[in-house]
Amino acid sequence: MKPIQVGLLGIGTVGSGVFNVLARNQEEIRRRAGRGIEIACVADLNVERARSIVGDKARVVSDARELIANPEIDIVIELIGGYGIAKQLVLEAIAAGKHVVTANKALLAVHGTEIFKAAAEKGVVVAYEAAVAGGIPIIKALREGLAANQIQWVAGIINGTTNFILSEMRDKGLDFDVVLKEAQALGYAEADPTFDIEGVDAAHKATIMSAIAFGIPVQFDKAFVEGITKLGAADIKYAEQLGYRIKLLGITKRTDKGVELRVHPSLVPAKRLIANVEGAMNAVVVHGDAVGTTLYYGKGAGSEPTASAVIADLVDITRLIEADPTHRVPPLAFQNHTLGDAGKDLPVLPMAEVVTSYYLRLRVADEAGVLAKVTGLLAGAGISIDAMLQREADEVGGEGSTQTDLIILTHDTREGDMDAALAQIQSLPTVLAPITRIRKEELN
Ligand code: NDP
Ligand code: HSE
Repeated sequence: MKPIQVGLLGIGTVGSGVFNVLARNQEEIRRRAGRGIEIACVADLNVERARSIVGDKARVVSDARELIANPEIDIVIELIGGYGIAKQLVLEAIAAGKHVVTANKALLAVHGTEIFKAAAEKGVVVAYEAAVAGGIPIIKALREGLAANQIQWVAGIINGTTNFILSEMRDKGLDFDVVLKEAQALGYAEADPTFDIEGVDAAHKATIMSAIAFGIPVQFDKAFVEGITKLGAADIKYAEQLGYRIKLLGITKRTDKGVELRVHPSLVPAKRLIANVEGAMNAVVVHGDAVGTTLYYGKGAGSEPTASAVIADLVDITRLIEADPTHRVPPLAFQNHTLGDAGKDLPVLPMAEVVTSYYLRLRVADEAGVLAKVTGLLAGAGISIDAMLQREADEVGGEGSTQTDLIILTHDTREGDMDAALAQIQSLPTVLAPITRIRKEELN
């Protein structure tokens, strides 16, 4: 079957990520969506740069309206940004009967009501997972995963640029301007970085989350917005001394009188998980009456993390277009997963094939040559030691003890090799108790 035909408006930081990830993971995405998804046409003002990214894999035009008018296009992705031409193009795409995917939080926070109304009238979808917290699927979590709850509050670090700036200023003592330039070079900042540093971008995102959390219209004009430009390095230091970190938070909260909607620098206790979210990372904490507090963490900006969310929307829309209504989201994520042989070529590994690193604790006789024997057997199995600790015998077994503990951290190794080495080590007469083995996961 012909793949779903997608038109991409704007192939800058996020657009190029979408193009590359879609090309790289096309087979897996096709299996999830139930049909291939292909960027058939790209519109960008800079046609030459666009061609250098897409090669001959898609048509490139300079006129976005030519793309929208193309009857072959099923879904239009808007990645131009701003409230100007982007708004016109999104409304035109809707009017032309196209589903729309956008990462444009500014557009939705300010003109969302008009855009969603137009889409509803035309019977098309406007999807926007990437508009809040980039790669974190927070829209899905709020709208679907937490649907049982009365949401009480949402608070998030939802601007990567400012979090990056605050982290670098705190950790490295760097100046505001230097770090801002770095954030721009890394593709985190908005085209106009005052949106980031003055809190406007975070307020756009908080506005969208507020609407989803509390079932109210998007009302960016009601948001209180204070950025980080007036924040002094001294405040960051003093807060630290008092046990707090300063973070730019977007907060929306249900109260008896109404909904709070605000963005401002906030002192957060240093022991809270969210206080330890550093660099361009984002995190959103949602408190629901049934579930309690849940936390969502990940990359909130950048080319491919944001593309991840854009493509998730493409998959959702493709499923809507394609699937039998009772099976819109396949139970195990991939279409036809439970029916055919799909996936059988990717076996679940036996434990012996798993590669990880280890903590080992050995109770040994405190005598010459024991350590050499143990390390020799590990080396013989190709297992490399990362760190080692030997306790004094008296400390372990009391005064005059002849036993001690050897603690060994290894580098990555096959579990099967470790099993074989441990069997040999365990049989040494100088190893006096069952060896403790704990697997170590860096998760970095
Ligand atoms: P970029 O500025 O990198 O890309 C925008 C692209 O659109 C540029 O290539 C630009 O061309 C092109 N463009 C401008 N006007 C037109 C037009 N009339 N027709 C066709 N193309 C046009 O922006 P980003 O990729 O960073 O951001 C895109 C959207 O995603 C924005 O809404 C942003 O807020 C949002 N977003 C961005 C994230 C990020 O990490 N960067 C994360 C989450 C959301 P030219 O350069 O020639 O002007
Ligand atoms: N400028 C935004 C940020 C991009 O820094 O978080 C992601 O929306």
